Amino acid sequence: MTRIVLLPGDGIGPEVTEQARLCLAYLSERRELNLSFETHDFGGAAIDRHGEPLPEATLAACRAADGILLGAVGGPDWDDAPARPEAGLLGLRAALGLFANLRPARVIAGLEHLSPIRGDLVRGADILIVRELTGGAYFGTKTIDAERASDEFAYTREEIERVAHVAFAAARRRANRLTLVDKANVLATSRLWRQVVGEIALGYPEVAVEYVYVDAAAMALITNPRRFDVILTENMFGDILSDELAVIPGSIGLLASASTGTERAALFEPIHGSAPEIAGMDVANPAGAIASAAMLLDHVGQSEMAFLLRGALDDVLSSGTLTADLGGGASCSEFGEAVRTRIDARL
Ligand code: NAI
Ligand code: MG
Repeated sequence: MTRIVLLPGDGIGPEVTEQARLCLAYLSERRELNLSFETHDFGGAAIDRHGEPLPEATLAACRAADGILLGAVGGPDWDDAPARPEAGLLGLRAALGLFANLRPARVIAGLEHLSPIRGDLVRGADILIVRELTGGAYFGTKTIDAERASDEFAYTREEIERVAHVAFAAARRRANRLTLVDKANVLATSRLWRQVVGEIALGYPEVAVEYVYVDAAAMALITNPRRFDVILTENMFGDILSDELAVIPGSIGLLASASTGTERAALFEPIHGSAPEIAGMDVANPAGAIASAAMLLDHVGQSEMAFLLRGALDDVLSSGTLTADLGGGASCSEFGEAVRTRIDARL
């Protein structure tokens, strides 16, 4: 039995999570994957019912799970609430020790015109950013007075090693190329990153490693995105570059993410937020949630099923069945249904 915890959350979270769950359940029934699903309150919905965004029962279920599929949290309803929905997300990340954030983005064949970048530049782009999530400037000691402020920017060998292993393992499942993005010409932390990554690379001889400064990488993502396969980088650079990458495919509704850590359970979620202005209208794009479900299948050892689900998703998108964010007329549930029809065709 593979235990999947669903945290639909707020806004469009429940709608897109439901389409992803239906896809997983469909695969599970037809291929006897033995996936079990349980839904728990999280975010603003949990504040309304329990007074806190991450209730004890939700956290306990997440700790016991093999994978967690999250929708989105937040919205204007909780702007003045004493507890913040986002605090639930931070609490969950901390509790599960999630130190690696995986952000894939692909330009799907036939959909190049949706990208804000010229089609001939983005055609075939398929990139995974692996961002370190718990170290660096965001978590260092901070000082501030009227005249001076500082943010300690530190990394330990161990912090670099564990996320580097995640990135090399991912490169091995993909095109066997890894780019370490840093600023080794000016930052001491970057020099340690290069040293440690160079050592770890010896254990992955099939993976070709290159080193690129973050400013050059920011340009190359736009001018030559096909040059990248896996990008490994520290927390702040990863924060910025992953948002840059997210605009390339054409809608944030398409994009998935995974966060893995020290526990068995990993967290899978579309990168978009709760989009309150379209919540409950059955118009949200569930592709990012469905692609997140595919990453969950990889995590629980069902990579063949993950491949199949991604293929079905690509089929639907390439065939022009698109939701409103991509200029199409399909509803959220129609899109999900179309993916399940393609699953059937591919099984
Ligand atoms: P957002 O991602 O919710 O929306 C940005 C724009 O993209 C909106 O125009 C929205 O309609 C559209 N959009 C987003 N996802 C879509 C989808 N699946 N299909 C079609 N269109 C989609 O970001 P925004 O508006 O900045 O934040 C709204 C709320 O979500 C806020 O309360 C924010 O704090 C929260 N949020 C939560 C996140 C999470 O749960 N991980 C991440 C980002 C924001
Ligand atoms: Mg960001």
